Amino acid sequence: MNQILILFAHPAMQKSRINRILIAPMQEHTAVTFHDLYAAYPEFDIDVQHEQRLLTEHDIIIMHHPMFWYSTPAILKEWQDLVLQHGWAYGSSASALRGKRFLNVLTTGGGEQAYSKAGLVGNTVRELLVPIERTAILCGMHYLPPFVVHGTLNMSDVDATRHAEDYQRMILAMRDDEIEWSKIADCHRINENLDDVLTRNGGSQNA
Ligand SMILES: Cc1cc2nc3c(=O)[nH]c(=O)nc-3n(C[C@H](O)[C@H](O)[C@H](O)COP(=O)(O)O)c2cc1C
Repeated sequence: MNQILILFAHPAMQKSRINRILIAPMQEHTAVTFHDLYAAYPEFDIDVQHEQRLLTEHDIIIMHHPMFWYSTPAILKEWQDLVLQHGWAYGSSASALRGKRFLNVLTTGGGEQAYSKAGLVGNTVRELLVPIERTAILCGMHYLPPFVVHGTLNMSDVDATRHAEDYQRMILAMRDDEIEWSKIADCHRINENLDDVLTRNGGSQNA
């Protein structure tokens, strides 16, 4: 069973609608650690040793966040700057993160069409995430395509709940190795066609 760490970052949960729905089922699963960074560090006083210990104890690392200014909320940048230390996360003798899998789970206000060459944004989400991809690779991790929920601004609660179910299916399948890891690499986003990459309909729905 893979151990999964979700580094969750939303600086204004009192205003959140979509991420609130996405994370609701996520906090109760065996081998899944849900870690709310803004709740843990409201003053950005990140406990580096604790974060490094958490990383060491998990096989799959997820950064879950809304897209803010084509990037992540600020605490995830601070977290990278402080936690991913030279000699521990990267450098010739560093091996703490080597071989772990990494992905982003994110929500965007803009629709999927906007995140294309011809769209309003002009870049794909995958392109915008390149600094994080390079960081994960420098640390020796396997970078996976993101799980993206587009178009949150006009999204109904019903659709958000459907995405939450997909998110949960993906997490459980990753935990239980019921996912075709080699197929995932070709996806634009993992949840583009989730059924195609899950080997047993998303794994068990039970914790
Ligand atoms: C400060 C800020 C910056 C944002 N920047 C972007 C952006 O660059 N691209 C985008 O598609 N949506 C952007 N949004 C919209 C958020 O991504 C969207 O509100 C969020 O995904 C919805 O999730 P929530 O209901 O959990 O807050 C931004 C929102 C805020 C508040």
